[in-house]
Parts: sequence; C-alpha cells; structure tokens
Amino acid sequence: MFKNVTLFAALMFLALAACTSKKEAEEAAKKSPTPSEAATPQPEVHGTEVKSLELTNPLNKDWVTTGKKIYETKCLACHKLTNEKLVGPGWAGVTKKRTPVWIMNMTTNLEMMLEKDAEAQKLLEECLVRMPNQNVSQEDARKILEFMRSNDGEK
Ligand code: HEC
Repeated sequence: MFKNVTLFAALMFLALAACTSKKEAEEAAKKSPTPSEAATPQPEVHGTEVKSLELTNPLNKDWVTTGKKIYETKCLACHKLTNEKLVGPGWAGVTKKRTPVWIMNMTTNLEMMLEKDAEAQKLLEECLVRMPNQNVSQEDARKILEFMRSNDGEK
C-alpha cells in the first residue's frame, strides 16, 4: 500500500514535470519570432490625408486623358469600368456612390482608410483582397478621379 502511494506520488511528480516542461517549450515557441513577424512589411508610402476637394466643371480634359493612362497602367488589372467586379469593384457609378475625398483617400491612403473607415472595411470583406499600395501621388489621384467622373458620364 505504502509502496503504491509512493509510486503514485512519483508518477504525479513526473506528470507535473512533463507538464511544466511542455509549457516552457510553448512559452519559448511563443517568444521566437513567427514567420509573419520575421518578415516585417516595408513601410507604406503614405499620402497625406485629403480633407477637402473642390471639383471643377466642366471636366479638365487633360486630366481625364492622363487619368486614363494611369488607370491603364496601375488600376486596370483589378478594376473594370463597368460595375462588374474583377479583383476590386467595377468603377461604374463610383463617383456617385462615394465622395471625391473618399475616393482620393482610397487611392492614396488605403492603410488609413482600412483603419478607420467602415465602408472601406466592408469592401475589403466583400473582395477578400486588399488593394495593394500603388504609390499614387495626390496629383495623379486627382487625375484618375477626373477620369472616373468622365467614365460616369460627366462632361
Ligand atoms: C491588385 C488589384 C488592385 C489594383 C491594381 C487596384 N485596386 Fe483598387 N481596389 C482593389 C480591391 C480588392 C478593392 C476593395 C478592397 C479594398 O479596399 O482593399 C479596391 C477598391 C478600390 C476603390 C473603392 C471602390 C468602390 O467601389 O468604392 C477605389 C476608388 C480604388 N480601389 C481605386 C484604385 C485606383 C485609383 C487604382 C490604381 C491607381 C487601383 N484601385 C488599383 C484592388 C485593386
């Protein structure tokens, strides 16, 4: 009987010891960098937040032309000009649905938008893909916006 109790105690001790060392191993594993931490993302080039914007009428034809060119090189792969979704939403009607400031920030400042803008967050959930930072300057973003307006039938 006594023997059994000792055995039992010994087993308990072993079990506890095993448990502790397992826990320690887990702690150690937690401390070593995970792959996602190891690959620290490069800092994004942030545009400064666009706070207000005056649209002009009629459209600036030069901007529409330049905006279209930028669209073709940097946006066309993911955005159609219809309302059909490709990787991102189609652009038809985007200037009616969104404010110019919102569009500008979406183009130049996606990081910030995804942090605090509910609509942007919703889009990300719908599309499942995050729009990559295209390093578009504010001037270029303004020209793309002019092209979007033209795509939405403004003259
Ligand atoms: C690799 C694909 C990809 C490229 C290239 C891309 N986008 Fe996007 N875009 C997305 C995705 C995905 C979303 C929605 C999810 C999100 O916001 O991350 C989006 C959302 C948007 C929206 C919001 C649309 C809406 O319906 O409200 C705008 C505006 C936009 N992009 C502008 C641009 C501009 C301007 C360019 C080119 C300079 C561009 N995107 C290039 C994938 C892309």
